[in-house]
Amino acid sequence: MRKTGALIASQLLVCALMSGAGEPGAGEAPVFSAAERSIIATLAPPALPPPPPDRTNRFAGNPLAAELGKKLFFDARFSGPLLEGDNDGGPATLGKKGQTGRVACAGCHIPAAGFQDNRTLGYSISLAAGWGRRHAPSLYDVGQQKLLMWDGRRDTFHSQIFEALESPVGFAFAGNLPPDARHVSKVLNDSKCLVRLYELDPRS
Ligand code: HEC
Repeated sequence: MRKTGALIASQLLVCALMSGAGEPGAGEAPVFSAAERSIIATLAPPALPPPPPDRTNRFAGNPLAAELGKKLFFDARFSGPLLEGDNDGGPATLGKKGQTGRVACAGCHIPAAGFQDNRTLGYSISLAAGWGRRHAPSLYDVGQQKLLMWDGRRDTFHSQIFEALESPVGFAFAGNLPPDARHVSKVLNDSKCLVRLYELDPRS
């Protein structure tokens, strides 16, 4: 990942040098003119199609499931203690080392930052309970994707989220809790929203 990043960065530098004067200086954000913005806008489709149907998920499209998912996205109750000393309570961290209940999905996929992690930009990896090995990608339009994660190792959303929940450096779930999903089930069972979902679906 880092090698690829360095390669892309060096290619961008060559492009910048070849394109000559008028480019923003080091550390300056590029400013696009109205004309450039309208050219960029032609590259986007006018409207996105709905996400492809997911036959592996019987709750897909259920508004209660969507409501539950949204709640869980911001729910930090699953998380164990922050492990890494870089968690010093500063703005680039989710709290201080040892604190529990600090990590939610939204801690790394930050809504105000396009659902990516802009707390730990300099490292290109994500800090939650500890340092992960990869940067948290944006979740914009993620419902359109057929393969998930940087290397495409997941092909369903419901299988993907347990990876974050059970990651020792993500939610640190395994740090202070039984090494199975009992804690997750308990929190879910306490959720009125989930209970309503079960009531709606007699197969559950
Ligand atoms: C510790 C930071 C962190 C937390 C917390 C976290 N994620 Fe992620 N997420 C990542 C990283 C890093 C990746 C990419 C990992 C990889 O490719 O190996 C990722 C990938 C994803 C992807 C795939 C995106 C794509 O474009 O392929 C989805 C979807 C996702 N996360 C959803 C969630 C949800 C839902 C939660 C909460 C249950 C969550 N994440 C919690 C860091 C985090």
